[in-house]
Amino acid sequence: MKSLLSVDHISITEIQDILDSSYSMLEILGRDIKKVPTLRGKVVSLMFFEPSTRTRISFEISAKFLSADTVVFSPSGSSIEKGENLIDTFSTIKSLGADLVVVRHSKEGVPWVIQKNTKVPVVNAGDGKNEHPTQALLDLFTMAKQKNIRNITDFKDIQVSIIGDVLHSRVARSDTKLFIKLGMKIIIVSSYTTGYPFFHDRVRFKNFVDQEVLSSDFIIALRLQKERHGNCFYPSEREYFEFWGLKEEIFEEVKDKFIMHPGPMNIGVEIDQSIAYSENSLIFKQVRNGVAVRMAVLYHILSRSRSAE
Ligand code: CP
Repeated sequence: MKSLLSVDHISITEIQDILDSSYSMLEILGRDIKKVPTLRGKVVSLMFFEPSTRTRISFEISAKFLSADTVVFSPSGSSIEKGENLIDTFSTIKSLGADLVVVRHSKEGVPWVIQKNTKVPVVNAGDGKNEHPTQALLDLFTMAKQKNIRNITDFKDIQVSIIGDVLHSRVARSDTKLFIKLGMKIIIVSSYTTGYPFFHDRVRFKNFVDQEVLSSDFIIALRLQKERHGNCFYPSEREYFEFWGLKEEIFEEVKDKFIMHPGPMNIGVEIDQSIAYSENSLIFKQVRNGVAVRMAVLYHILSRSRSAE
């Protein structure tokens, strides 16, 4: 793997390799001293043009746990404010010594443009509504851990329901692509206006949560992506929660199901606190697993670039 731009580019063998490595990385996270010399001398640059807590920090500590040096770039205060374009900015970061850049941007396709024009290895940390491949991998790893799955062929019996603002969700898009690759059963639940126009032949659609949705092995709630709406896609947040939120009323039915959410959550908008913080909620486990998965991704890309030198 030279870059990770999209789930489309990850082979079945690479998914298995990343799953295996994530289990090993999780073992490192459990040690008193969470540091190995694997990527010593490598430089990872974190270039986030959109807000982030989980993804940015988990990439940073993942790189540090593998002994890589990190450079955190902030658009505010950079020469972008003096008119420098994106490609020159990334070329500058490469010239300054970055071996890999992790990019988040509000515009779809930016990671591809950077990779094509600079040839630096790129990890897509979320491009607009398009993709968030490491979130999909960490969601998969979280499911694997919960079901004790070691071999990815064993995912084909798993049913997942993804509920919420699918139209604006890069997580839903990457999750769906990855789960389809592994033959999982996928149900998408969304309002008519925040529905999903893709993968009609591989995914089942519903407009409301029903018993079949609630019987899924995993239920993934999505954030209502208010920053991407522009126009109104629902009459009010109260009405959205009423029809598409995971409400306290269904707590009894989902209390033995595994609840996931990529975060950050809008409590009381797409998920009730009783469900978000329930015993079977995996939401904060997803965050921890994300460190292991991102360590695995950095390892797979940078150890390959080392052997190619
Ligand atoms: N899930 C996710 O991408 O969270 P952040 O926006 O906090 O990185």
